[in-house]
Amino acid sequence: MDKKIILGIESSCDDTSAAVFENNKKLSNVIASQKVHQEFGGVVPELASRAHQQNIVPVVHQAIHQAGVHVNDIDAIAYTKGPGLLGSLLVGASFAKSMAYALNIPLIEVNHMQAHILAHFIEDEAQTAPSFPFLGVTISGGHTQIVQVDNYFSMKVIGETLDDAIGEAYDKCGKMLGLDYPAGPQIDRLALHGNPLKFKFSKPKVEGLNFSFSGLKTAVLYFLQREHQKNSNFINENLNDICASFQHTVVNILMDKILKAVKQTGIKNVAIGGGVSANSAIRKALKEAEDKGQLHAFIPKFEYCTDNAGMIAVVGYYSLLENKVSNFHASAQARLHLNEL
Ligand code: KG4
Ligand code: ZN
Repeated sequence: MDKKIILGIESSCDDTSAAVFENNKKLSNVIASQKVHQEFGGVVPELASRAHQQNIVPVVHQAIHQAGVHVNDIDAIAYTKGPGLLGSLLVGASFAKSMAYALNIPLIEVNHMQAHILAHFIEDEAQTAPSFPFLGVTISGGHTQIVQVDNYFSMKVIGETLDDAIGEAYDKCGKMLGLDYPAGPQIDRLALHGNPLKFKFSKPKVEGLNFSFSGLKTAVLYFLQREHQKNSNFINENLNDICASFQHTVVNILMDKILKAVKQTGIKNVAIGGGVSANSAIRKALKEAEDKGQLHAFIPKFEYCTDNAGMIAVVGYYSLLENKVSNFHASAQARLHLNEL
């Protein structure tokens, strides 16, 4: 295929993002993160859609400008169809559709979860793409999945959370500790100065490769309530140790399942993605497992870990290669399974 210029648009949650790619290579990747949710301790869907509405035109404009291309150079537009918040998705979907219609170019629907996995194939000297087959582990505020990836569009979920996502566990426990949203990065930082073995939280007993984080959340809540009754300053006096102990438990839960998946499938390449892959303890645990010869870890550049349109554009590129383009009936879908699309 000749060189193709692809515009990617992502608006599934609280980041409005647009990227311009030449094949699978980034020319620009602009991300506008919405600050409006911070004071509410989580994403407020109604506010998210309004903010997308405000951001979408300037963000797309900036992405095209930064890429140094002209709008008429764009060969196709890829956008996130789902999963995500419907109101947020609709902003990106309507914008992408209108623009593709006006320019008379192909429109490509992208599954956000496939995109987190295919972000590993963005050509960038800072990252190496895993070879097939590999295990894609998507860990973020909205998702926790282990996926067997046999090819670009041949993927199977082999484990996932039955309740809260891993990042949600971080954010909810952080809220109990009085930390701002999103709490993940702060817990990670505070944990560096704490004792991971000081407090013990039991791991959930979940069959197979699935996860559960809601029990841990409740265990932390009851623990804090109990300790608070004895000492009203308990959280302040023990913040680092609580964070370190919580993080230690979460990392153990995750690594247990990853190693189990490696054993069960015989696939050693493990490629993680999603906002939580920024976590220092997870990275360290993966490195240690790699040093022991248990797996090969692939971690994308941070810019491609969190929600971003670069990963949408790269799926657009592989979709074009396989002639997977949509028509103008395309829309948004809040619940979308990995293999739908
Ligand atoms: O992928 P992402 O930007 O958005 C989606 O949720 O899809 O991920 C955001 C999540 C939040 O829950 C945030 O607390 C978590 O990733 N996070 C972290 C870290 N950095 C971000 N969690 C733990 N440790 C971190 N260093
Ligand atoms: Zn995501």
